[in-house]
Amino acid sequence: MTDPAFDADTLRERALTTLTTARARTTLLTSCVEDPDLTAQHSPLMSPLVWDLAHISNQEEQWLLRTVGGRDAMRPEIDGIYDAFEHPRAARPTLPLLPPTEARHYAAEVRGRVLDILESTAFHGTRLTEAGFAFGMIAQHEQQHDETMLITHQLRKGPQALTAPDPDPVPLFTGPSEVLVPGGPFTMGTSTEPWALDNERPAHRREVPAFYMDVTPVTNAAYQAFIADGGYDTERWWTPEGWAHIRQHSIHAPLFWRRDGKQWLRRRFGVTEVVPPDEPVLHVCWYEADAYARWAGRRLPTEAEWEKAARHDPAGDRSTRYPWGDADPAPEHANLGQRHLRPAPAGSYPEGESPLGVRQLIGDVWEWTASDFLPYPGFQAFPYKEYSDVFFGPEHKVLRGGSFAVDAVACRGTFRNWDYPIRRQIFSGFRTARSAGTV
Ligand code: AVJ
Ligand code: FE
Repeated sequence: MTDPAFDADTLRERALTTLTTARARTTLLTSCVEDPDLTAQHSPLMSPLVWDLAHISNQEEQWLLRTVGGRDAMRPEIDGIYDAFEHPRAARPTLPLLPPTEARHYAAEVRGRVLDILESTAFHGTRLTEAGFAFGMIAQHEQQHDETMLITHQLRKGPQALTAPDPDPVPLFTGPSEVLVPGGPFTMGTSTEPWALDNERPAHRREVPAFYMDVTPVTNAAYQAFIADGGYDTERWWTPEGWAHIRQHSIHAPLFWRRDGKQWLRRRFGVTEVVPPDEPVLHVCWYEADAYARWAGRRLPTEAEWEKAARHDPAGDRSTRYPWGDADPAPEHANLGQRHLRPAPAGSYPEGESPLGVRQLIGDVWEWTASDFLPYPGFQAFPYKEYSDVFFGPEHKVLRGGSFAVDAVACRGTFRNWDYPIRRQIFSGFRTARSAGTV
């Protein structure tokens, strides 16, 4: 690899920094409430926070200490408890989990040994250690669980436990609402990004016909217009599955919203507030995003359209790592890393826009796409089938771009997330598109 950003010393330094950043966040998320709140189940959709804490460390132990480092298991009897496939989330509170003090102790002990192994491991030789992949994978895994734990905090009832400064206010966005993305092939996925996960690989050419993409995610104000127009009571905007789902569960607004006379309120990390009109809509499921798009005379972008809008540079006919180019994310590019506990207003981060002028593709809200989660041509499961392979299929829809809750290490132009189309406790929003040549 010739890129100096990817040389072994830089990557080793980056592995240390990113593991340390992740641990600081994990520590905050598991110390801002009292211990009983760590073992409680705040929602059947989520694990107790103390499960996430020990699961993070158990994965770290298995991959970095045992597989890379060749060490013996520290506590082989707990592996089953922290295997996500053995126990569904709803059943995890009844497991003999390590109590908070023990879980913290285990986490610290694993991490101490990992730092020794990080120093002594060559960043080449095996596929797992090439460019420090296993360390990057484990840092991403911890950050993914930090986002999961933030979702648990959002679902938790009770007073506010977390605070963060709000994003800077910006003038109301008055730029164009959509841009034309020219038709033609582009390179989707990656074969060179050192810490890209298996489902992002390999790079391959995709033909994407010309289409128009929204410049910003759909805002709360726009979504409120859909509600006010009877969107939730009009069957023709919904797929049959979506219609059945919102009827059965009496869904009339995004999760955490409540009507108060003429205005909408929402609960956000323990505080009730007026829904801010200019912010991207958050906590909608795929069915809601899809119905809104149909109501607006538009549709959700496909995953390939999303990635082309985010990575294709028409000037160079190549795909960049991020919309703004190849530089790692900085605060002026995107709202990432739980720096703020909300999305930034639509139109924020002009320095993060794509060459075609699409904004906020990275950060703020995960964006639902029209696409099922499927492997790319040439996909190989690595290093374990349970990361991606077992989830491929039409039951999961792809989300792109990351949210305010995800760290930069687990967010790229190629990064793929997925979930069931009914899920809305996640930090999900969307933008819309239309094929060129349609009105
Ligand atoms: C990629 C976010 C769907 O949280 O289920 C965490 C990430 N995989 N531990 C999930 C993951 C294993 C995964 N998502
Ligand atoms: Fe996990």
